[in-house]
Amino acid sequence: MHSWTGCEAICQPEVALAPFTWYKLGGPAEWFAAPRNEAELSLVLQRCAENGLPWRILGGGANLLVRDQGVRGVVIRLDGETFCGAGNNGSGRRWALQPNADGRSVTLGGGADLTRLTKHAAMNGWGGFERLAGIPGTVGGAVTMNAGGRWGCIGDLVRSVALVDPDGRQRTVSAAELGFEYRRTRVGERIVSAAVLEYTPDEPRRTWQRYLEVWNAKYASQPPVSERSAGCIFKNPPGQSAGALIDRAGLKGARRGGAEVSHRHANFIVAQRDATAADVLALIDAVRETVARECGVVLELEIVVW
Ligand code: EPU
Repeated sequence: MHSWTGCEAICQPEVALAPFTWYKLGGPAEWFAAPRNEAELSLVLQRCAENGLPWRILGGGANLLVRDQGVRGVVIRLDGETFCGAGNNGSGRRWALQPNADGRSVTLGGGADLTRLTKHAAMNGWGGFERLAGIPGTVGGAVTMNAGGRWGCIGDLVRSVALVDPDGRQRTVSAAELGFEYRRTRVGERIVSAAVLEYTPDEPRRTWQRYLEVWNAKYASQPPVSERSAGCIFKNPPGQSAGALIDRAGLKGARRGGAEVSHRHANFIVAQRDATAADVLALIDAVRETVARECGVVLELEIVVW
């Protein structure tokens, strides 16, 4: 028997995870917790420890594949205005994306939507955010994995990050302490509850133009967001493109069940209507084996598999 004293209202058993992911695949979470502020988050983590339940944090589900059998333990998803609104800049105003008093930074909750943020930034002359155009997810998820692309990554913009330790303690760390590298940080087992991102004030006309350029370049070379995927499946090996290697190995259009290597960009595996998570995993294995054999490179997963 599990005890959720004090957080019964935000913890539920057996919640389907597929709707929370871009793949729309996979089974349920044994428990699902949706804390709305740091105090609730700390309490959930405390109860997880007391119940001996492992926990994981769900971001925007844009870089995630959940196995068909689902996951044991607790899936935590930051919820509510404090986490998902634009953030609290100290003025007490939330949801509206207000810049901080310095006029060059903005404070965002870990659950804030990245797509909404980058669009708002581009429309308001917050220069630098254009590099993240077309990258879905939450601020917390993007910071944790240093999401990015050819034009740059979120680590380029981070000033500081508020983290919650597994034991519920809160701490703010600088970007330097987090050691942003290619799709890698030292966030580790901690939860990003908020982040301060910096921008370079510019003319809205110019930031919007650059945003459109990045968006259009991605649109032209990647499957549309209407196709179910988790973005790039593999990390780029140093100095090489995983997509180009998979393409060179002749794998565009390769299938396992309802999973298919995208014809548009070979580092995307798209899920057809009848796909299962097992299909995607089988195709990942097949791609990795073929590329290792044909190109002599062992590809490393970029997506997270639960
Ligand atoms: N290419 C092919 N065939 C393909 C795909 C790519 O020949 O099927 C070639 C392209 O023609 C190009 C080169 O490979 O010469 C690189 O391709 P692209 O510019 O599309 O970039 P990428 O390295 O494959 C990276 C990120 C993407 C990001 C894009 C653009 C990784 C693993 N991928 O892709 O990130 O959107 O740059 O910024 O870092 C993601 O992380 O989910 C993701 C999609």
